[in-house]
Amino acid sequence: MPARPVQARRTVRRDRSDGRAALTQLAIKVLAMPETPDVSLRPRADDDLDILFEIAADMDTWEERNPEPPGPLTRDQFIARMARRAESEASGDSVSFVVDVDGAAVGGTSLFNFDMFARHAEAGINLAPSARGRGIGTAAIALLVEFGFARRNLRRIHLQAIASNAAAIRAYEKAGFLVEGRQRQHAWVRGAYEDIVLMGILRPERVGHDSPDSRSTTAPAQRGRPR
Ligand SMILES: CC(C)(COP(=O)(O)OP(=O)(O)OC[C@H]1O[C@@H](n2cnc3c(N)ncnc32)[C@H](O)[C@@H]1OP(=O)(O)O)[C@@H](O)C(=O)NCCC(=O)NCCS
Repeated sequence: MPARPVQARRTVRRDRSDGRAALTQLAIKVLAMPETPDVSLRPRADDDLDILFEIAADMDTWEERNPEPPGPLTRDQFIARMARRAESEASGDSVSFVVDVDGAAVGGTSLFNFDMFARHAEAGINLAPSARGRGIGTAAIALLVEFGFARRNLRRIHLQAIASNAAAIRAYEKAGFLVEGRQRQHAWVRGAYEDIVLMGILRPERVGHDSPDSRSTTAPAQRGRPR
C-alpha cells in the first residue's frame, strides 16, 4: 500500500510568556482545523458489495460515473459487472481499489485502459454521497496516482470529467492533474449537452515529488503545479 499523503497536522506553538494564551491559541487552531479523514486504498471484500452496489446504481450521478446511457442497474447486473472487472484485473488491464475510511468502504477508485508501451492509464473514482465533500476524494485520487507511478511504473495518468462536475475537477487539480483539453458538447447530461474536460498528470508533476524523472512536454505557461 502506498504511503498516505494526507494526514491531519497538529501544530502546537508554545507561548513562553503566557501559558493561557498558548492554550487558547491551540484551541482555536484545533477547532479551525478541518477534520481530515484517514483514507486508504485496499482490495475489495465481500462485505463491501452493498455500498459499492448502492454507488453503482445511484441515478443522481450516473452520467458523472458512466459513459453508458442511464438505466436501472439490478444486483445481478452489478455482480456480472464485478465479475467482468475481476477478469480484467486478472489479465492486467485494470486495477481497482476500495476507498476505505476508518475501516469502512466509502467508494471505489481504479486505473484502467493500461498502455504499457507508452506507460499510461486512465483513472476513475466514485464515492458514496455521504463521503463526498470531506477531502476523501482528493486523498484517494492522490493515493491512486502514487500507486500508478510508484508501483505500476506509469509515466502518465489521464481522466475525463463532465465540465459541471466542479468537485471532481477541483479534486483532480489538487492531486496535481492539469486540464489538457475540452471536448465541446461531448456528453448528454440530464437534458443538456455538456463539455468533457480532459485532464492528465505526468510522473514529475505528482504532489510532493519535486525531482523530475522525465521531460514534460507541457507548455511552460501551464507548469507550476503541483499546488
Ligand atoms: C468527484 C468526487 C470523487 C470528489 O471527491 P470529494 O471527496 O467529494 O471531493 P473533496 O472533498 O476532496 O473536494 C475537492 C475539492 O472540490 C471542492 N468541492 C467539493 N464538493 C464540491 C461541489 N459540490 N461543488 C464545488 N466544489 C466542490 C472542495 O471544496 C475541494 O476544493 P477545496 O479544497 O479547494 O475547497 C466525489 O464527489 C464523487 O465521488 N462524486 C460522484 C461521482 C463522480 O462525480 N465521480 C468522478 C467522475 S469524473
